[in-house]
Amino acid sequence: MKIFSYIVIILIGASCSSDKEDYVPIENAALQFTVPANFPEPSYNVSLNPPTEKGFELGKKLFYDGRLSSDGVISCGFCHIQDFAFTHHTHIVSHGVGGALGTRNAQPLHNMAFMKEFTWDGAARHLDLQPIIPITAEVEMNETFSGIVKKLEDQPEYVKLFAEAFEDQKINPDNILKALSQFMIMMISANTKYDKIERNEGSVFTQEEASGFELFKSKCASCHQGTLFTDQSYRNNGLAIDPQYNDIGRNRVTGLAEDLHKFKVPSLRNIELTFPYMHDGRLKTLNDVLDHYSDGVVNSETLEPTFKRQDGTLGIPMTAEEKLQIIAFLKTLTDDDFLNDDRFSEF
Ligand code: HEC
Ligand code: HEC
Repeated sequence: MKIFSYIVIILIGASCSSDKEDYVPIENAALQFTVPANFPEPSYNVSLNPPTEKGFELGKKLFYDGRLSSDGVISCGFCHIQDFAFTHHTHIVSHGVGGALGTRNAQPLHNMAFMKEFTWDGAARHLDLQPIIPITAEVEMNETFSGIVKKLEDQPEYVKLFAEAFEDQKINPDNILKALSQFMIMMISANTKYDKIERNEGSVFTQEEASGFELFKSKCASCHQGTLFTDQSYRNNGLAIDPQYNDIGRNRVTGLAEDLHKFKVPSLRNIELTFPYMHDGRLKTLNDVLDHYSDGVVNSETLEPTFKRQDGTLGIPMTAEEKLQIIAFLKTLTDDDFLNDDRFSEF
C-alpha cells in the first residue's frame, strides 16, 4: 500500500477539435488510493476528487507555500510539521501570521480521508472546506482566496501545475482546495507495530504492551474506538474549564447546551509525538494524560457519565503500573514509515 501504482491517463481534453492542431495532450497519472486492510471505508468520496500525480504535487506545493498567508511566511506546514505527525511541535496553541496566538492545539494530519468532520469541534464538515478556516482566520493565515489566486497567477510554475492537474486548468479556490485534499487524503498512517499485529504481519506485542492493550480496551476504547482510535463523537472528558480561553467546544457549532465543553475524540495514532495534549495543549506528557484520567477529572453538567464512579468519585481508576502499560501500548501506535515518508515532506 505504500507504493503508488501509476495508471497513466492521457487527458485528451480538447485535443479532438481540429482547430487546435498544436494542442499537446497533458499527461497526468492517477494515484491509487488504497484502503489499508484493517481500515474502514473512507468517508471522503475519492471518486469526486480522484488523486493524480500532478494534483498531489500541486497540493503538496500549496501545503508548504507561505503565499497562502498574508505575510508570505505561514504555510500549512508551518503549524503541521511532519516529524510530529503534522502537529505544531512545542506550541501549546498555534501561532499564525505576525505571531498571533490561536486558542487551540494544532491537530495531527493523518488518515483525514477516514474522518467525517474536522477540527476539535467539528466546525468543518468536509475536508475540502476545512482549509478555508486557517486560510481566512486572522490569527492563522489571514489571507483571502482572491489574494492567493492573484499571487499564484504570477508564478509560471503554478500556472503550469494547475493546467496539468485539472481539466479546466484554472487557478481558482475550488482547485486550490481540491489539490490540498488530494495531498491530505494520501497521508495515510497505517504501518505501526499495532497495525502489523492486527494484520498478522509477523510482529508481536511485548508483555507490557499486551497488558496495556487489554487495559486500553476496557478503559479507553469506548471513545478511542476501532482502528482509527476514535468513534468520531464529541465528549467532555473532564478537563477543568480554562478561564483564559473558556473554549465552549462543540457548543460553538451546534448551539446546544448538551454540547458545552465537548470536543472531538482524537485519534491516538502517533500520539507519542503529538504532545502537548488536549484541545488547548494543556497536558505535556502521556503520564500527565493518564494522571488526568485517574485523578484530574472535573465534574460538570456535560461530563461523560462513564467517568462517574459508583462511590461518587470521578475518573478512571488505574494503578501506576497500569498507566505505564497503557503508555507502552500507545507507543505501538507510532508510525515511523509515515513520519519519514518523503512523499509528504517539504524537501
Ligand atoms: C497557525 C497554525 C495553523 C495553520 C497555518 C494551519 N493550521 Fe490546520 N490546524 C491548526 C489548528 C490549531 C487546528 C485545530 C483547529 C480547531 O480545532 O479549531 C487545525 C486543524 C486542521 C485540520 C483538521 C484535522 C482534524 O483532525 O480534524 C486540517 C485538515 C488542517 N488543519 C489542515 C490545514 C491546512 C490544509 C492548512 C493550510 C491551508 C492549515 N491546516 C493551516 C493550526 C493551523
Ligand atoms: C468518554 C470518552 C473518553 C474516554 C473513556 C477516554 N478518552 Fe481520551 N479523550 C477523549 C476526548 C473527548 C479527548 C479530547 C478532549 C479535549 O481536548 O478537550 C481525549 C483526549 C485524549 C488524549 C489527548 C490526545 C491529543 O491529541 O491531544 C489522549 C492521549 C487520550 N485521550 C488518551 C486516553 C486514554 C489512554 C484513555 C483511557 C485511560 C482515554 N483517553 C479515555 C475522550 C475519552
